[in-house]
Amino acid sequence: MRKAKVINIFNSKGGVGKTTFAVNLASLIATKEKQNTATSYKVLLIDTDFSANSSIYLVGEKYYKNRIYKNPEKTILSYITHYINNFNENFSKDIILNNQTIKQKIIFSKIEDTKYNYNTLSLIPSHHSIQDYKYEKEFYNKSNLLETKEIIRFQKSFESILQDYDFVFIDSPPNFTYVCKLFISITDYIIVPIELDWQSLNGFSNVVNKVNQLRKKFQKEIYIRLMIPNKMSHTKRKNHNLQQEKINLIKKYIPKWREKYKILSQFEISEPFSETVYFANAQAKEKPFFEINQDHDLAKVIKHRLNTLAGQILGW
Ligand SMILES: Nc1ncnc2c1ncn2[C@@H]1O[C@H](COP(=O)(O)OP(=O)(O)O)[C@@H](O)[C@H]1O
Ligand SMILES: [Mg+2]
Repeated sequence: MRKAKVINIFNSKGGVGKTTFAVNLASLIATKEKQNTATSYKVLLIDTDFSANSSIYLVGEKYYKNRIYKNPEKTILSYITHYINNFNENFSKDIILNNQTIKQKIIFSKIEDTKYNYNTLSLIPSHHSIQDYKYEKEFYNKSNLLETKEIIRFQKSFESILQDYDFVFIDSPPNFTYVCKLFISITDYIIVPIELDWQSLNGFSNVVNKVNQLRKKFQKEIYIRLMIPNKMSHTKRKNHNLQQEKINLIKKYIPKWREKYKILSQFEISEPFSETVYFANAQAKEKPFFEINQDHDLAKVIKHRLNTLAGQILGW
């Protein structure tokens, strides 16, 4: 029986590339065939951010507006509210969307000329009203009261889902909300996309400390496994050099961090991703990056780096 590896794309800062990497890595891995089989990896993307960006990216704005926004019971929201109300059963699989269960192409529906059918990629969509006051208040109160037994109940409720997939990707909100914490409790590995400014690097130590506290509280082996430097300047040499210096500095500290903090004991930093409009272009077209025809050198480098990351994750 399989048991999914749960990979949480997290940073307490917005705009760093969480959604971009969640969607692109999840979809890329879902196109890869398992060794010695003709089947692709089964991947589930769970969108836990109220802005629902990765849901909209995957199913398109039209489908989201007409079929998901109007039916919050078909989203993560219904599960969380049931859960809060002590709904004790397993996670309801009814809210999982994919091209097979819906019997209609909804995931990357705009791609015509592709060799992939994305039948092994599924989505649990988010809903904008996660941010509504009535939930926020309820979630906030809950968030401070997260008890171990509540966390165990949440982890148990997800067990049967994890049996169905090879990888579960979680696209997170930019802060430690109640929902975010619940999902950290089922996370194996955290990937942190980051911008290379001073503020973001400061934010990283905050993420390490907070997740470390949760790790102890939840008694769950969680590792901050990978940092992805994103939006690196490649046109301004001075900025580029400053950012490269920061990467070098981080690399210098990695052996010490690994030794000192269990949560960082497998920590790595990936090759950086340059600042480019290609990611936004792909998202606007509702296609994954690797499905966009880009012959420019920079686009080729990005495709290569995404593939390298996917290969690395498959080895986890
Ligand atoms: N390397 C990059 N260069 C330029 N823009 C990027 C890059 N990576 C992501 N973006 C864009 O930045 C915006 C924020 O990225 P997103 O993935 O939504 O961040 P987050 O989920 O962390 O808030 C999006 O418009 C996205 O297309
Ligand atoms: Mg996002």
